[in-house]
Amino acid sequence: TERTFSILKPDATRRNITGAVNALIEGAGLRIVGQRRIQMTKAQAEKFYEVHKERPFYGELVEFMTSGPVVVQVLQGENAVAKYREVMGATNPAQAAEGTIRKQFAESVGENTVHGSDSQENAKLEIAQFFQDSDLTA
Ligand code: GTP
Ligand code: MG
Repeated sequence: TERTFSILKPDATRRNITGAVNALIEGAGLRIVGQRRIQMTKAQAEKFYEVHKERPFYGELVEFMTSGPVVVQVLQGENAVAKYREVMGATNPAQAAEGTIRKQFAESVGENTVHGSDSQENAKLEIAQFFQDSDLTA
């Protein structure tokens, strides 16, 4: 079994659809083993998205991620990293497959409802940014 890190982004909390998104997550066989609703600080968002620092949308991305509350989560299951990427769908909702979270809910390539780690290594680093091991229980 494996763990991945997830964020329900501000467009999800704003529209009050966190339960609907969680239903898709759980429906895919992923277990939410840790979950907290927080207001990200600018410093937290900048650090979290540091890999995108040189991208033209970095400022917009940090602005968006701090524009309202988010729900940070740890998901556990078989191949959790790859499975969650599949459930999320493509970054751009226009390209997301039928049945995915982003196809159903995302508003644009920027406001795309969810984040999921892109590797097991990043999952560990991202989880550690927001959770202590003692917060997580399957
Ligand atoms: P995450 O799970 O959020 O990391 O999404 P991803 O891995 O599918 O995409 P990527 O890591 O390439 O980009 C990170 C985030 O930056 C995306 O989820 C979007 O919120 C945002 N983003 C990516 N491309 C664009 C863009 O062209 N414009 C804007 N405004 N935001 C973008
Ligand atoms: Mg990414």
